[in-house]
Amino acid sequence: MTDHIRFDAQSNTLDLLDQRALPLVEERLYCRTLDSVIEAIKSLAVRGAPAIGVSAAWGCVIAAREAGLDTVGGSDDWRENLDSALDRLAASRPTAVNLVWAVEHMRALWKQKNPANSAELHTLWLAEAARVQAADVAANQTMGAFGAALLDDGDTVLTHCNAGALATAGWGTALGVIRSAIAEGKRIRVISDETRPVLQGARLTAYELARDGIPVMAACDNAAGLLMKKGLVQKIVVGADRIAANGDTANKIGTYGLAVLAKEHGIPFYIAAPLSTIDPTVLTGDGIPIEERPDSEVAELAGTRILPEGVGAYNFAFDVTPSQYIAGIITEAGVLSAPYEQSIAEALRGVTG
Ligand code: MRU
Repeated sequence: MTDHIRFDAQSNTLDLLDQRALPLVEERLYCRTLDSVIEAIKSLAVRGAPAIGVSAAWGCVIAAREAGLDTVGGSDDWRENLDSALDRLAASRPTAVNLVWAVEHMRALWKQKNPANSAELHTLWLAEAARVQAADVAANQTMGAFGAALLDDGDTVLTHCNAGALATAGWGTALGVIRSAIAEGKRIRVISDETRPVLQGARLTAYELARDGIPVMAACDNAAGLLMKKGLVQKIVVGADRIAANGDTANKIGTYGLAVLAKEHGIPFYIAAPLSTIDPTVLTGDGIPIEERPDSEVAELAGTRILPEGVGAYNFAFDVTPSQYIAGIITEAGVLSAPYEQSIAEALRGVTG
């Protein structure tokens, strides 16, 4: 699946499969303005760290056109207006570093090439956003091949949230590893945690795996301990929203508990993520900002309030798994292992030359 993020250059429109409506309705969301891209990211119409990054790259393209029309800011200087538009885009969700990565990548290219006007910048960014999108799929397929070697024929892999094609430009990170193992002929089954509060596991992971004919069972989040104890889980593979320089990893709320349970049961717990998810400026997980979302996501189920009136709810969207629980970080540069300070620094050196 790669058509969930499309860009129509003719109409300068980002065309998204609206993930809020899945799996019941396959509905497209057309973003023609930067504000609508920001709203799509905030509202989870597009979600998953790499998919947010790719959408943000397209958001820059839309912003470049708006800068030419002077609709993004209040100054006469299109460059100044565009800079503040990019800042707004980068701030639309705080935890997934791929968002900032993509915006700063586009901004750096702009400053480096210094085009004479916004129309030239638009052309430059159009090509670059397409490249960022294609590179994400390629990275996932490379990481899939590295990760597939960690899975054995007959394994059942537990995953949390959705780190699949929908969460990326295609193929997926955690689900990409599973897809690659299956492509190699291994028989792999998947357990998808429901992933409250907004059920990315039940709605999205189950949807895309079932669509590909990959055997998947859903389980409520609090079943994980029992499933491990019963020997029903051989490996755990999840995605990541931000990885600190020491390997501590932020991912969907509930991931940390899974990692601790995995250690208790001797089950290898892997992270699969592209190098763009690593934030070397954050030294440990304590420095990763954790998004807090509206408590209505917890208070309601499918639009119906399930909490008594007047009762509030915690809604931290992510937690951080300390690196000591992580058996390996699967990237497009290979499987990184402890000590992560060293393996991460080496992998990033390979990227920057
Ligand atoms: O709030 P979401 O749905 O954007 O959270 C997504 C996750 O936590 C994913 O596991 C993570 O972004 C990795 S996606 C390849």
